[in-house]
Amino acid sequence: MPDGFLVTAATPDDHDDLFTAFSRIVEDGDGFPQNPPLLRHEFDEYWLAHSSVVAVARTDSGQLAGAYYLKPNFVGRASHIANAGYFVVGPFRRRGLGRSLVLHSLEQGRRLGFDALQFNLVFETNPARTLYEELGFSQIGRVPRAVEDEDALIYWRAL
Ligand SMILES: CC(C)(COP(=O)(O)OP(=O)(O)OC[C@H]1O[C@@H](n2cnc3c(N)ncnc32)[C@H](O)[C@@H]1OP(=O)(O)O)[C@@H](O)C(=O)NCCC(=O)NCCS
Repeated sequence: MPDGFLVTAATPDDHDDLFTAFSRIVEDGDGFPQNPPLLRHEFDEYWLAHSSVVAVARTDSGQLAGAYYLKPNFVGRASHIANAGYFVVGPFRRRGLGRSLVLHSLEQGRRLGFDALQFNLVFETNPARTLYEELGFSQIGRVPRAVEDEDALIYWRAL
């Protein structure tokens, strides 16, 4: 992790902060497809209900700076493939925290027995694409006009 940040597994004490921060991401249309305003049960369903792990990054002073979830992308015989979603809170971006969260999730994925990680809907203009490609993800598909006429890409890498 970059200096000044600590990553831990989320506990119920983190959920209100996570909901608030992710609601802001959704409000800003920032990389995720949910419609604002995000409702608590939608957050619970997307972030908590199916996740194998949720991790939060906090500053030394305890502010929520970022988070990710990791969960099976598919059921049954394809459940060895994980899916993950990441965000970094605006003021903490471009300091390497996003990269550290992705790397952390790769380790966690391996630890949990997943053998691949797939992102289903990376909007074409999302700067995270550079990061994913640098970290060895391959673009394996394209979803035409996924949101408001913008295509999205599907990324995959082995763990
Ligand atoms: C994507 C996100 C998690 C990146 O977090 P971050 O902490 O800023 O990422 P990092 O500082 O580790 O940056 C890693 C690399 O990503 C790329 N990158 C990230 N933000 C960028 C931007 N605004 N413009 C250009 N490149 C960018 C760069 O290649 C960067 O490496 P560099 O700083 O060495 O140039 C953050 O922008 C975010 O929360 N976005 C909204 C939610 C989202 O889109 N999540 C991903 C859904 S697929």
